[in-house]
Amino acid sequence: MSNLKIHHIGYLVKKIDRARQTFETLGYRTEQDTVYDDTRKVDICFLVKDGYRVELVSPVSPDSVVAGLIKKYKNAPYHICYETDDFETALAELTAGGFLAIDTPTPAPALGNRRVVFLTSAASGMIELIDG
Ligand code: NI
Repeated sequence: MSNLKIHHIGYLVKKIDRARQTFETLGYRTEQDTVYDDTRKVDICFLVKDGYRVELVSPVSPDSVVAGLIKKYKNAPYHICYETDDFETALAELTAGGFLAIDTPTPAPALGNRRVVFLTSAASGMIELIDG
């Protein structure tokens, strides 16, 4: 397997401003202010604490990619994102290893338009892969 490094933990939230304040109460600091992702119809911001990066993701409209997930999970972590410096190889290896891509690699506005793809496996749930 290519070298995968944990980039962030994705965390679904219903109200991004209130969630951010609450994470700041816990000692997180905002690394990147809220950015609207027009493709996925979500607001996204990044916070960091103790070397961990958390991505707050909040649906903005009923056709948001996470509109269904937030009904199921409410406010909760829902994916771990892994960074790779060899995106194509890592994607092929993950697919060969039993992960199924659930979308196609797409630029992520909240991440400098780096390519990301989401994958899932029955044994581990959803992950995200980001091009380093
Ligand atoms: Ni993410």
